[in-house]
Order: sequence, then C-alpha cells, then structure tokens
Amino acid sequence: MALLTILRYPDPKLHTVAKPVAALDARISALIADMLETMYDASGIGLAATQIDVHERLVVIDTSEDRDQPLVLINPEITWVGDERVKGEEGCLSVPGIYDGVERATQVKVKAMDAKGQVRTIEAEGLLAVCIQHELDHLMGKVFVEYLSPLKRNRIKTKLIKALRDEEDD
Ligand code: NI
Repeated sequence: MALLTILRYPDPKLHTVAKPVAALDARISALIADMLETMYDASGIGLAATQIDVHERLVVIDTSEDRDQPLVLINPEITWVGDERVKGEEGCLSVPGIYDGVERATQVKVKAMDAKGQVRTIEAEGLLAVCIQHELDHLMGKVFVEYLSPLKRNRIKTKLIKALRDEEDD
C-alpha cells in the first residue's frame, strides 16, 4: 500500500471528467487500498480518484465516527434525489483549510459496484448523502468551491496559490 499525492485546487487536472472503470482487476483493487489509506491518513471522509489524478469513476468514503466503515463506490450513479435541500459547511482534501456553505439534497440513492464486484443501491441521508454528492461531483470535474460566488472562489484561488508557493520556498 502507498500514500498517494492529492491534487490541489486550482490544479486544472481536477476538472477532468472521469471515465467508467472498465474492470475490477488487480490494478483497481490496489488503487482502492491506496485511496483508503490516503483518505484515512489525511483525515478525510471521502476521496475521488480524480483527486489523485486517476480519471476513472471510483470513490472511497467513510463517514463513520470510528473510521472503520469504508465504502467503495465503483462506477457510481445517483438514481434518485430527494426534494429537501440543506446548506451545510463543506471542505475538501483538494482545497485544504477552506470551508464554506454548499446547498445539497439531504437524501440520495446511489447505485454502484462495491470492492467485491457486487452492484448495490445505497440509500443515503445526512452527512453520507452530502459526501456522495461531493465525491460524484469530483468525478465530473467539479470542485465544491465552484458553487460559491466568483468573488469567493477567486479569493480561495489566490490564497491556495500563495500557500503552495510558500511551501515550495521552505
Ligand atoms: Ni473533495
């Protein structure tokens, strides 16, 4: 297993649209293990393959308190979205240190293959529902800051570019 490098906003590679995973083979299984390790190491609740520069429809999630309930979604598709919306604070491992409000559906159903190759439909609500929507956005090349105003987004861009430069200078 290995820790993977997480792309940081505004890296243009984060806007790549992912292709379906062709087969659950040894390469994908190894990638799942590495993505889970990377997500837990970074204390994140979700990681999309897009964020580690692999442009295939694969997401790992764990919203459990004890960090012991990994959820693997291969070729996920949202099949149903509830009517209720709620605005909640979101962050992202690709946008470190930035949190802001995003409106999301409170309930969704997602159909996906799991790490064993079983296709399942998951009914999600609350934090898990929000996390699924956030991660599936990544697969479409969308980062949560794109829901914010252009003014806020530009401030975030400037701040993150400066932070990256400061790190490189060290
Ligand atoms: Ni994210």
